[in-house]
Amino acid sequence: MTSPKFITFEGIDGSGKSTQSRLFADRLRAQGRDVILTREPGGSPGAEEIRQLLLTGDTDRWSAETEILLFTAARRDHLEKTIQPALAAGKTVICDRFADSTRVYQGATRGDLRAMVDSLHTLMIGREPDLTFIIDMDPAMALERGLARKSGEDRFEDFGLGFQETLRHGFLALAHVQPDRCVLVDGNRTPDQIASEIAAHL
Ligand code: TMP
Repeated sequence: MTSPKFITFEGIDGSGKSTQSRLFADRLRAQGRDVILTREPGGSPGAEEIRQLLLTGDTDRWSAETEILLFTAARRDHLEKTIQPALAAGKTVICDRFADSTRVYQGATRGDLRAMVDSLHTLMIGREPDLTFIIDMDPAMALERGLARKSGEDRFEDFGLGFQETLRHGFLALAHVQPDRCVLVDGNRTPDQIASEIAAHL
């Protein structure tokens, strides 16, 4: 089996996926792999600008439908400018969030918009990761951790605990229907324990 080149980390806010993406990138680099670590929304100059629009301000700043358009625009730029060139150069791309976040955050929290998300993804992105780690964590603990960071990018945390619980179910459902691509990881442990389990998958 060829080793996966495009690897994503997903999970609710405060689940520890950014830490795990970083630890995983460090581990692969230590093995001599040429790795880029990137994130969504963002990962290219244009997409980082769109990130600011999406993650700051009031919860009702954008409807879920408008968010789908903005996240997809950011993703398209990220794909064109960062992900595809890196993959073409033979690098491994590790991405903190990708299309699964849109499927869950926009597709399953404020009405069933999944068909809209999927159509736009097919039209504009048309690419799935080779491997996705979904970090599952208790939503109350994760939300507390996420808000404690005071990152100033809390628009989605501000939707509250019920929203995070809906997200958790959305990610669990994704892992269930896509077992070949998605690996569910118990995030209610120390970062080192979680990192060891993730490393064992390669
Ligand atoms: P993060 O960088 O801390 O993970 O924050 C990104 C936020 O954006 C997080 O609350 C999840 C949200 N998000 C979506 O709602 N849809 C998406 O497609 C992506 C990539 C992120």
